[in-house]
Amino acid sequence: MKNAINKLGNFINELGKIVFLNRENSLIFSQFEVNLTGLNENKMNKKLENFINEIPKAELHLHIEGTFEPELMFDIASRNHIELKYKSVGELKQAYNFNNLQEFLDLYYEGANVLIHEQDFYDLTFAYLEKIHKQNVVHTEIFFDPQTHTDRGRAFETVIKGIKRALEDGEKQFGITYEIIMCFLRHLNEDEAFKTLEQALPYKDWIIGVGLDSSEVGNPPSKFEKVFEKARNEGFLTVAHAGEEGSSDYIWEALNLLKVSRIDHGNRCLDDEKLVDKLVDLKIPLTMCPLSNLSLKVINDLKKHPAKELLDKNVIVTINSDDPAYFGGYLRKNYFALAEALDLSAADISVLASNSLEYSFLDSAKKLQHLDKISDLLKKFNN
Ligand code: HPA
Ligand code: ZN
Repeated sequence: MKNAINKLGNFINELGKIVFLNRENSLIFSQFEVNLTGLNENKMNKKLENFINEIPKAELHLHIEGTFEPELMFDIASRNHIELKYKSVGELKQAYNFNNLQEFLDLYYEGANVLIHEQDFYDLTFAYLEKIHKQNVVHTEIFFDPQTHTDRGRAFETVIKGIKRALEDGEKQFGITYEIIMCFLRHLNEDEAFKTLEQALPYKDWIIGVGLDSSEVGNPPSKFEKVFEKARNEGFLTVAHAGEEGSSDYIWEALNLLKVSRIDHGNRCLDDEKLVDKLVDLKIPLTMCPLSNLSLKVINDLKKHPAKELLDKNVIVTINSDDPAYFGGYLRKNYFALAEALDLSAADISVLASNSLEYSFLDSAKKLQHLDKISDLLKKFNN
């Protein structure tokens, strides 16, 4: 009997390795992501893994176009009679090997080209919600890039209606609350951003804020100072990607010129002690993305991720998945990977998850409910 169990154990281990190797190369079988960590590494303790899984979490840095799984991309391409450059899911996955942000963006924009109809945007968004529901993500604030779609002839209305309808259905079916943030593409000019803002005005009640994404270096926040001012005057909150590949000066600009409520990424703040103090004083959170940073070579080893160092300096850090279909894991996997690499405690994890809820744009009553649950679970963990 013992022998049989051992054999089964070995078999599962081997299976884990196969899946894992495939994931390393091409992210095959991503639905097994959770078990894989345990099966292969067997380093993180099961109790902590369960704790990460169970606690309510919010996601504050997620590009909906970055949740486009290759299988769904091929399905939608096929029903829209669009031929992808890659012949198969496997071939596409082989291309998920990036040296920097731009290499990723080139592929990400190409993938988005197959999204044509409102239903396509619905399917994309709903597939994401189905995944995070199983990971106890209770609230999500998703980015979308209108210009990626309007520049190829899609109506702003088509995009937002598909996304919004899926989010409404997700809230009904899974209880996941949400907000929508529209990002300007920073490689385009400010006039284009103004046009996008005009298009968004009829949907003002659906969009809580504006953000700034795409190729960072050479496209500083100052380029968008006026359009962000107009957005704020229209009642939008503001956030911006800064300090992912760009310097700490970009983070200063996002704070001082764009008046952001949160910095997306922000890794480079550690280059400037005064900036770190400023982030602490102003209570400006960083929406950090460990697996994204590893994939895009912002860091070369997760053990060098700055999240823990920043937490120790009292910076408000949150953990997020950025573009999970491209970077190898959804929110839970980001927590697992970081916890393992930085040897995080349950208390550290609960701070990260609590930050994500506290610094979300969710209403106070719901925030409190989730925060209470986290502290109860932490108490149970420690008993
Ligand atoms: N950085 C900048 N732009 C992006 C990203 C990112 O990580 N993901 C999608 N657009
Ligand atoms: Zn991002």
